[in-house]
Amino acid sequence: MLKAWTREVLGKFVRAELQDYRFIVVSNREPFQHRRTGGRIECIQPASGMASALDPVMSASGGLWVAHGSGNADKQTVDEYDHVAVPPDSPRYTLRRVWLTEEEEAGYYGGLSNQGLWPLCHVAFTRPVFDPEHWSMYRRVNQRFAEAILEEAGTEPTFVFIQDYHFGLLPRMLRDARSNLVIAQFWHIPWPNREVFSAFPWREELLDGMLGNDLLGFHLPHHCHNFLETVDSSIEARVDRAGSEIFRGGRATTVGPYPIGIDFDEHVEIANSDEVTREMQRWRESLSLEGKLLGIGIDRCDYTKGIPERLRFLDRLLHQHPEYRNKLVFAQIAVPSRSRLQPYKQIEQEIDSLAAQINLRWGTANWRPVILMKQHFNMAAMTALHRLAQFCVVTSLHDGMNLVSKEFVASRVDNDGVLILSQFAGAARELNEALIINPFAVDEGAAAYHCALQMSAEERRRRMTKMRSAVEYNNVYRWAGRFLSDLARVEFPRTTDETATGVTSFRAPLKRQALGMAV
Ligand code: G6P
Repeated sequence: MLKAWTREVLGKFVRAELQDYRFIVVSNREPFQHRRTGGRIECIQPASGMASALDPVMSASGGLWVAHGSGNADKQTVDEYDHVAVPPDSPRYTLRRVWLTEEEEAGYYGGLSNQGLWPLCHVAFTRPVFDPEHWSMYRRVNQRFAEAILEEAGTEPTFVFIQDYHFGLLPRMLRDARSNLVIAQFWHIPWPNREVFSAFPWREELLDGMLGNDLLGFHLPHHCHNFLETVDSSIEARVDRAGSEIFRGGRATTVGPYPIGIDFDEHVEIANSDEVTREMQRWRESLSLEGKLLGIGIDRCDYTKGIPERLRFLDRLLHQHPEYRNKLVFAQIAVPSRSRLQPYKQIEQEIDSLAAQINLRWGTANWRPVILMKQHFNMAAMTALHRLAQFCVVTSLHDGMNLVSKEFVASRVDNDGVLILSQFAGAARELNEALIINPFAVDEGAAAYHCALQMSAEERRRRMTKMRSAVEYNNVYRWAGRFLSDLARVEFPRTTDETATGVTSFRAPLKRQALGMAV
């Protein structure tokens, strides 16, 4: 029998399974950031699919989260160990902040991570930048994080769970420094095919770094396959495709697919709250929705998200179907992101000017077809917008998973609303009842808007009900539970036959069967 994964079940599982270990999660983006605005310090949750997925996992399991302290009031809110208890209202785990100089942040984060690896892995037709200075900052910052983690781990056996592409070198650094660490990494973005990846100038060092992991996860089997092929064609290693394992330097790395989810129950609770009812009323007034139809898009302002594409769909729709003029409002939230980088400045300008053109072409004295909001909203406000929309559109040109699509579905406690979803988002593999589209095909997109607006209530309900059970079942606790269960199956230390001599395992015996867990 398959168990339902909930926050409580995951918490129990982690406590039982990792009781002999310290539990450390590492990411670049922190889950909570302190910002000073005017005379006040406020604590916000930055817009990040990765951080919003990991926060409930950490709340369930406790432990320590190591991340870059990037808020302008972060330093004022930590103790002498750079620790702060979070979430601020009801602390459940500890955040350890790592400080970076401006130069480090520019080279490692703005440079190698977001101008090199981000476009390289997303294959979104934005040319990656490979600057040797960025690479040396990336190495230096990975080392800084390694030092912080080793300090936190002390001499105890520790499980280190690393997030994302900012830390390709960290697993090897930790592995070489200390043998009593269990190291796993989840790569939240796609992994491209081997031809595309072969353009990366430091591929051997990066791949070797990632092979310091005991377990390496991607969202989709396709990304795992691409990674195994990349390793096979780039460095000295034995790749066992059938077993999905890579052997290098006498150690093994298991590679597997783990499609990430959200905290479904929490979304349902919020969607049913009075606060969301109040927020819905606020949106009705501020967007003048009386007698109107509403389409929405919610994204970080990023060139991988296909925001101009979806605005072009709207333009096409209004051209082909005059009946939607004066009737359809499209609200786009574009949360500012990585705004110092040129490609992000450019995409913002493109979105601004497209929205202005469409409003000029079709708008009237009482109606603006596009309402563009370039700011961060809290979860209640976004959930309220989900609840009001006739459709939500996700047009990623390439996306590891895309959690906005799952959040929209979870918010629709009324089993209504239509999801329009790019075939290039990982979520399209699970949410088959969405209207799946090619974001590059403008007629297909406009037709999907029309289809969503014409769909019968019965059909909407049928589709939404199916999608809701998929999102409910494959929630973030199942994602973490499956990942940690697979890690628990790994034998430690991970030596291959050639080198495994006289090494004793430090690992505690498995307790999975005792817990009766099935995933
Ligand atoms: C993606 C990445 C995350 C990242 C998020 C926001 O979801 O996978 O690691 O945190 O984008 O980007 P930012 O650069 O603001 O952290």
